[in-house]
Amino acid sequence: MKNIRNFCIIAHIDHGKSTLADRLLDFTGSVTDREKQDQLLDSMDLERERGITIKSHAIQMDYEFNGEKYVLNLIDTPGHVDFSYEVSRSIAACEGALLIVDAAQSIQAQTISNLYLALENDLEIIPVLNKVDLPSANPEEVTDDIVDLLGCDPEDVIHASGKTGFGIENVLAAVINRIPAPKGNPDEPLQALIFDSVYNPFRGVETYFRVINGSIKKGQEIKFIATNKKYFADEVGTLKLKQLPKKEIKAGDVGYLITGIKDAREVKVGDTITDSKEPTKNAISGFEDVKPMVFAGIYPVDTEDYEELRASMEKLQLNDASLIFAPESSAALGFGFRCGFLGMLHMEIIQERLEREFDMTVITTVPNVSYHAYTKKQPDDIIIVNNPSDLPDPSTLDRVEEPYIKATIITKADFVGNVMSLCIEKRGQITNQTYLTTERVELNFDMPLAEIVFDFYDRLKTVSKGYASFDYHPIGMKPSKLVRVDILLNAQTVDALSALIHADNAQTIGKKMCEKLKELIPRQQFDIPIQAAIGAKIISRETIKALRKDVTAKCYGGDISRKRKLLEKQKKGKKRMRQVGNVEIPQQAFMAVLKLN
Ligand code: GTP
Repeated sequence: MKNIRNFCIIAHIDHGKSTLADRLLDFTGSVTDREKQDQLLDSMDLERERGITIKSHAIQMDYEFNGEKYVLNLIDTPGHVDFSYEVSRSIAACEGALLIVDAAQSIQAQTISNLYLALENDLEIIPVLNKVDLPSANPEEVTDDIVDLLGCDPEDVIHASGKTGFGIENVLAAVINRIPAPKGNPDEPLQALIFDSVYNPFRGVETYFRVINGSIKKGQEIKFIATNKKYFADEVGTLKLKQLPKKEIKAGDVGYLITGIKDAREVKVGDTITDSKEPTKNAISGFEDVKPMVFAGIYPVDTEDYEELRASMEKLQLNDASLIFAPESSAALGFGFRCGFLGMLHMEIIQERLEREFDMTVITTVPNVSYHAYTKKQPDDIIIVNNPSDLPDPSTLDRVEEPYIKATIITKADFVGNVMSLCIEKRGQITNQTYLTTERVELNFDMPLAEIVFDFYDRLKTVSKGYASFDYHPIGMKPSKLVRVDILLNAQTVDALSALIHADNAQTIGKKMCEKLKELIPRQQFDIPIQAAIGAKIISRETIKALRKDVTAKCYGGDISRKRKLLEKQKKGKKRMRQVGNVEIPQQAFMAVLKLN
């Protein structure tokens, strides 16, 4: 155990985590040329395209240092706030972390939030100043920033480049010298932390774990404490580039487990594995059932595809336990599902996977957060509102609460004014402002989560000319003056377009929504009134004027092939439209409320 080191890499997005991990594998000879791919640890196609490590994995390296053999377990952490619970569990499986900071970008919001997570778990932090090869690198200043942040000595900061390989040997030396060996007792009852799982269609769910005490053996009957289910350990092993089966994985080490589980929901990240007959008395702390943060309706474009959509969602859920869904019906859209996601990125991933892997064309309604409503009759009973149209009648309501977050934003001093105005417009309350240097400022806000869902990232980028980084974590529910704004098309309420909006903004947003829908809904053979309403009160109105001319008329006469092309084009365009009453609504219109500015 004294020659094992368990560590992770934490960094702001794009500061070079994957590239550095890749160099470590190279340097320790853990990868042969043939096995080499651009970014080894990102294995899902989608991940590579997005350049984001979505699911965390782990890899074991063997390394000889000063004549001794070491086992280095590198646990990868996903770099997006949607997956911050998984990050926290990966961190909990380690004794140390490489904190990577881009020598040109310096400390950013995720650097800080990930660092706090690591410090909460008492990890040894090794600061790495990365990308020192960049001409725009600013090593002295950025080292100063790191020293200020960590209170370390400048000599503790390792200069490196994942691109050229400079400094990699020093990084490995620091991993061995500075990170403590795991503690734990191999003779105590088994206690292992699940920090990740991966769905394999042939072998079932692969569970990744870190043994804290005891050991886990092939064939042993084990129990997952949170789910209270028992399994046999059909296979255990270590995670080299490929899985390497072993007889036993002992305290301090990291490995994988295969039990034949076919449903990802049975394996909960953060759960404790123990022996079924001689269980540990202590579950590892920090376990949470992950809760979806963002909800949206998903409907088949073609109503006949409902059953197929259900089957696809069920399959998706088998390998992505954080997706939840329940059938719902909408007067406007018919039968579909209300789905819960970890965040907006997760929602996009699911949508994309439905299309790519299951060939489903779907309409997604505007996402919303989960509200708590209380009625005057039963002011103590929470009504969970995951769909705005489920909000009880306003006259019966006692109060409504919405989820809040604490936001961390780091920006340049020049943009502080802009960023503050944006956050205040988004109902944020500033809680802290710190000058990290004369140039760079950290701002903290408490804000409704709903405001982040609604185009916050894009706006922040614009007002800061790209010089702002952002991260957040949930801080619980707070009461809010929310009203439901309904949209009527042709005098008919389209339930899928309803949104819960703060009373003070309802008028403005209702008006903007009508204007936006006017842009997005194609003109038809008749006038279409668009109205926004709160209850029975109409707060705004626009009209889409009837289309008078035949669309093909502008193709002056005889050219048949052009006409046909135009019609084909229209047909394609129609694919993502839904007929609601006698009005055709394109997919973008359902998202209109997200892009009102
Ligand atoms: P996410 O997985 O998306 O969080 O990003 P990451 O932190 O893993 O960053 P990644 O390794 O994908 O690198 C981001 C970009 O920086 C890529 O274009 C890399 O080629 C580049 N990069 C990484 N390390 C270095 C370095 O040391 N020097 C230079 N010049 N570029 C680097």
